[in-house]
Amino acid sequence: MRALATSPAIHETVVVDRRETLSGIVILGLYAPEIARLVRPGQYAMAVPPGGERAATALGVYEARDERISLMLAVVGVRTRELANLQVGAKLDLLAPLGNGFDLEALRDDVALVAGGVGLASMLLPAQHLTASGRRAHLYYGASTAEALVDESKFAELGIGVSVATDDGTRGYHGFVTELLERDGRAHDVLAACGPSPMLRAVGRIARLRGVRAQLALEETFACGVGACWGCVVAIDRSSPQAPRFPQASSAWDGHADAASASEYVYARICKEGPVFWSDELRW
Ligand SMILES: Cc1cc2nc3c(=O)[nH]c(=O)nc-3n(C[C@H](O)[C@H](O)[C@H](O)COP(=O)(O)OP(=O)(O)OC[C@H]3O[C@@H](n4cnc5c(N)ncnc54)[C@H](O)[C@@H]3O)c2cc1C
Ligand code: FES
Repeated sequence: MRALATSPAIHETVVVDRRETLSGIVILGLYAPEIARLVRPGQYAMAVPPGGERAATALGVYEARDERISLMLAVVGVRTRELANLQVGAKLDLLAPLGNGFDLEALRDDVALVAGGVGLASMLLPAQHLTASGRRAHLYYGASTAEALVDESKFAELGIGVSVATDDGTRGYHGFVTELLERDGRAHDVLAACGPSPMLRAVGRIARLRGVRAQLALEETFACGVGACWGCVVAIDRSSPQAPRFPQASSAWDGHADAASASEYVYARICKEGPVFWSDELRW
């Protein structure tokens, strides 16, 4: 996958609208003209909780249009709670746009988009790009329960077919979205997915069995989010275009660096070289 040259900067944004779904997922609309202009599908932002006491947290850019973007938040801990509590008029600093995003050129004619939970946040911009360029796509979307399925209509409005799965069977297929994808008869040229790691591993396995490729947007706990701390690494093929090209060996790294230099893999930073990787280049 191509590495993108990005020039992230800190942007002061303002909350212009706020939606909360029945299941507690919050969608913050933000006035953020520069990010809206620059962001590419699959890129993310580091959002700084405004209280000033907590580290920034990674969030996919869900929508981007005119001078506005939006972020989709599932509250899982203190930082996402603080961000989800922001009301209209509040200021929010975002470091963005970050990461490589999806390789849209490589998403050919017929794409299966696979989203788990708030992984959906990284799927709307690719869907818009694909349909605008005349390509076909189908969304496979899984959530824990019917109430946690959000905004399917935004995909349907693009002319994209949507198949849903819920863990508890309250809507659509009863089970994981990857089982739904596996059972579905449609042959897709390529898969693109965002969601929890077990889901992404399953998508990678399905792609391998079908003899197609899959782009996976990995989720990891980021510390710095800008490639400085090496706290978010994943092993990838040394021959991957995403393999870091600078010397890896240093005394501070002995264990990892020696193992990596003697092998066919290297460590890539999910926040910097990713978060999107080809599944067949991951060594996980
Ligand atoms: C590139 C990227 C894009 C993301 N996009 C979104 C998004 O659009 N919307 C969204 O709601 N979340 C997204 N996340 C996940 C989000 O960053 C974490 O949920 C958040 O950092 C948790 O912070 P917290 O302080 O609220 O919770 P914490 O106290 O840090 O964690 C609470 C719980 O969530 C788990 N957790 C923490 N971080 C992650 C993670 N990255 N992935 C999976 N589980 C995690 C922890 O293990 C713990 O169980 C994204 C993550 C990455 C790396
Ligand atoms: S989180 Fe620091 S290098 Fe990725």
